[in-house]
Amino acid sequence: MTEPQSALLARIRVHGAVPRHIAIIMDGNGRWARERHMPRAFGHRSGMKAVREVVEGALEAGVEWLSLFAFSQENWQRPETEVSALMSLLEEYIAREAAELAQQGVRVFVHGDLSRLSPPAANAVKRVVDETATGTKLGLNLFISYGGRAELVRATRQLAADVLAGRLGVDAINEEEISARLYTAGCPDPDLLIRTSGEQRLSNFLLWQVAYAELYISSLFWPDFDRGALYEAIADFQRRDRRFGKVST
Ligand code: IPE
Ligand code: IPE
Ligand code: MG
Repeated sequence: MTEPQSALLARIRVHGAVPRHIAIIMDGNGRWARERHMPRAFGHRSGMKAVREVVEGALEAGVEWLSLFAFSQENWQRPETEVSALMSLLEEYIAREAAELAQQGVRVFVHGDLSRLSPPAANAVKRVVDETATGTKLGLNLFISYGGRAELVRATRQLAADVLAGRLGVDAINEEEISARLYTAGCPDPDLLIRTSGEQRLSNFLLWQVAYAELYISSLFWPDFDRGALYEAIADFQRRDRRFGKVST
């Protein structure tokens, strides 16, 4: 770790108000590769290092939950060669990192429509979830084949089924009952949502959960994002005045 990074980390820790949950839309791999006259898959491969960086940075900073948007429901519409390159990288990431994640105390959860994954990718997902099941330091949510609206449809179907079966009254439907049927049930809402590559949109990520998240747009392409950039985002978060609709104190 370079000097400025460790100084920044120390400052974040002294301030104390580290976000409990950080969500990241990891964007810009393709443009990063294009700048280097390389195929898009090269950018995706280079993005794996940034994943390692933010996981370690989150552990160092004392973040409890990290949610990473790795592959959206809409990303299935990309060319088949790119989709299969991404799926192979997922398998490779898990094969390479599962043991280390477990050793670091990271517990991995994978959320999304996993029925669309190939059998090897689905097996890799199951493996990392099982192997890290005892982790208590950091919850790592990986969103794969995920869409925020689809997640809300899924929760709505569960609610309807519970009502039809007589397990829940219509009047008992409230925000807690909806939250409890999302993939993120039991996990606090993100305090900070980071998007890389300068894009200023949600792209169907965690629509319900980010209701009061602070937004942070980094101009860095994802492969260039590192733990120092994560600390910068946390330091920026610590300067925000979160009012939640009230008057600031
Ligand atoms: C993010 O990088 C990775 C995924 C969406 C899977 P992109 O592939 O979207 O890169 P850009 O946005 O085209 O640069
Ligand atoms: C969002 O990035 C999805 C992920 C980072 C996995 P995209 O690159 O797919 O989003 P758009 O197309 O720019 O909205
Ligand atoms: Mg993109």
